[in-house]
Amino acid sequence: MSTNNGFAPGLEGIVAAETQLSHVDGLKGELIIAGFPLAKLAANATFEETVFLLWRGRLPNQSELDELKNELTALRPLPEATLNLLREAAQNHTPPMDALRMAAATLDLGSSSQDHLATAQTVVARLPTIVASYYRLRQGQQPVAPDPALSHAANFLYMLSGTPPSEARVRGLETYLNTVVDHGLNASTFAARVIVATQSDLVSAIVGAIGALKGPLHGGAPGPALDTVFEIGSANRAEAVLQAKLDAGERLMGFGHRVYKVRDPRAEVLSAAAEKMFKADGDMALYELAKTVEETAVRLLAVHKPGRNLQTNVEFYTALLLHGLGLETDIFTPTFAIGRTAGWLAHCFEQINYGRLIRPQSRYTGVMDREWVPVGKR
Ligand code: ACO
Repeated sequence: MSTNNGFAPGLEGIVAAETQLSHVDGLKGELIIAGFPLAKLAANATFEETVFLLWRGRLPNQSELDELKNELTALRPLPEATLNLLREAAQNHTPPMDALRMAAATLDLGSSSQDHLATAQTVVARLPTIVASYYRLRQGQQPVAPDPALSHAANFLYMLSGTPPSEARVRGLETYLNTVVDHGLNASTFAARVIVATQSDLVSAIVGAIGALKGPLHGGAPGPALDTVFEIGSANRAEAVLQAKLDAGERLMGFGHRVYKVRDPRAEVLSAAAEKMFKADGDMALYELAKTVEETAVRLLAVHKPGRNLQTNVEFYTALLLHGLGLETDIFTPTFAIGRTAGWLAHCFEQINYGRLIRPQSRYTGVMDREWVPVGKR
């Protein structure tokens, strides 16, 4: 931590919350989600089980799981006003994360519910419908109505393509959503906690969190990461293309992390999931190329920024996995939001229970004792 008389730039190293949701050990490369090592939870749980785990602190039994599934399923369809907004946004070529931010702001339209759980369920249930509907509208297609017979993950893939997905693809998406569901006090989660700490509402917190997630230093990296892999195109060009980017002062997307100084454990889980999915149903040549790009990037970054330990982060294999699921790059970050929203809401519940306003201080570095000069004399 670098502090200077209590000032920690970027709040690096500052502990600003206690949580039972996830534990991130950046030196060991370890991520625990509500007591489970990430690899165990991500590969086994359905997304609905993970939502229950984060919101209730334990895994559901069968009847609790069925009840949650039924409640979420019933909430999936979007109000007409939200669909109209998405149609308007598509006509204006609004980027998907901006459309998601606008549509998320309508999630409590017509509802006077003060019931946090009901609002949270509405948010989780409807985010996939917003993303999939907008994806189709942008392509000049009509949205596909949610299918109540399908799980949360399967239904999202179905609403994107209009055809029921294979089991391998559903498992790939469940693993992804579980992997990104929570990650300590990351920027978007912090934004959500700051908002509810003022006793504002959950939908406002989700809208703020979506805004924070959008940036390329947080959730906006996987699209550009995949673009880099495609730009490289073949393994023998990896070194030259990546070196040219570093020489031009660019950051390599999908590498480096504020907390992890070793390989991000989420990259491990997602690369294993991607390999399984690509082997079953995909382009193994692309997977092999991505491996080469990863090895080359980590090697070049070690020379470019010695001692900084810039390693692969979650976004690199997110890109590969989501591409393998047939998703276009511009909905990678909205799909991240579909997973992370359950974590945002769980943190909001913790923050509401804790009840303390988040209000750090700033140090003034401007001038003092200015003389007031009337406007005509300036
Ligand atoms: N490529 C090139 N240089 C880098 C990279 C990178 N990917 N990451 C960090 N650096 C450089 C920084 O410019 C900095 O250089 P400087 O000391 O000369 O200023 C140095 O390495 C150290 O950077 P850190 O302090 O470790 O980075 P910070 O904690 O500020 O940022 C971040 C972390 C934003 C993730 C950064 O590594 C980055 O921009 N990576 C690329 C974007 C990316 O992959 N984002 C997704 C992050 S994962 C997530 O949020 C879900």
